[in-house]
Amino acid sequence: MTPFSFTLEARSGGARLGRIDTARGAIRTPAFMPVGTAATVKAMLPESVAATGADILLGNTYHLMLRPTAERIDRLGGLHRFMNWSKPILTDSGGFQVMSLAGLRKLTEKGVTFKSHIDGSKHELTPERSMEIQRLLGSDIVMAFDECPALPASRDRIAESMQLSMRWAARSRDAFGDRPGHALFGIMQGGLEKDLREESARALTEIGFEGYAIGGLAVGEGQEAMFDCLDYAPGFLPEDRPRYLMGVGKPDDIVGAVKRGVDMMDCVLPSRSGRTGQAWTRRGQVNIKNARHMDDSRPLDEACSCPACRHYSRAYLHHVYRAGEMISGMLLTWHNLHYYQELMQAMRDAIAADAFDAFESAFHAQRAEGDI
Ligand code: GUN
Ligand code: ZN
Repeated sequence: MTPFSFTLEARSGGARLGRIDTARGAIRTPAFMPVGTAATVKAMLPESVAATGADILLGNTYHLMLRPTAERIDRLGGLHRFMNWSKPILTDSGGFQVMSLAGLRKLTEKGVTFKSHIDGSKHELTPERSMEIQRLLGSDIVMAFDECPALPASRDRIAESMQLSMRWAARSRDAFGDRPGHALFGIMQGGLEKDLREESARALTEIGFEGYAIGGLAVGEGQEAMFDCLDYAPGFLPEDRPRYLMGVGKPDDIVGAVKRGVDMMDCVLPSRSGRTGQAWTRRGQVNIKNARHMDDSRPLDEACSCPACRHYSRAYLHHVYRAGEMISGMLLTWHNLHYYQELMQAMRDAIAADAFDAFESAFHAQRAEGDI
């Protein structure tokens, strides 16, 4: 079995080109991970997701433990088999989703008890249980169990929460055990406080993980504050391990994060906005609902090779959205995921050529032109 490893191949300024090898295949970095929360990337067949260029998907402990349950997925042969995706899967650990989605919840040193957003039933998540669920799912990259305070929060609250997450990170490491071919990532917290980020990074590095995530960002602080944090946070983490920025983002967030040394990202944005009539292209955001597309025979983006752009007009995409047809979400999700993966490939090419600055200028110049 291929052991988990990360190889740094090139740099351009702060941006890094690399490759993660896993038992289920390689992940080219910088990597964007489409979100497959409920064992599906909504509106997409797995082979279509792979065709967009994705090397890895994200799944969610919180959703899958409630429905259909981790034990059932295990009995059915694991998450890869269940959802027909044979490449790597990273699973988030559940704490963050409990805090944002669950009903009544109670946080203690041991973990968190909460009521399901689906049927109100009572559940508990601890670092130990989260590791067990992610093992039952068969996740390739397991995330440590953490907590992310709701904003706005005081510095004291952010410090206490971060320190709790670091104790949970140590318990996650112990409970994960020795699992060749699988990796455990720690999650840095600390809000927008530089010294707390450094303290968190030091605690995680002492425990030792196969990769390190930057959590607690993209929670409403705004891009400028997030970039300020990313100007220093990745630098606190080991150079020779992948760095994963959780829950980011819009295309310009992603470019700014890669510039600052981030290797992996995930976000529901391309898939979710595809189902609400929003497309992302080289020229920025396009709202297909807008009446200006009604008679437009041109494709969404004439330079895009996705099925939505190769075979359909803006007029058609507008029509099926307005008519509430399922193909609307399918085509726009495909386009958006394709665009995101092309963006990642363009960044990887730019880093390989040591031309990330030129790439970034061209990226922003094209967006400034606006939609055609
Ligand atoms: N997704 C987005 N942000 C976070 C975070 O801080 N922690 C976890 N576990 N998942 C996230
Ligand atoms: Zn397209």
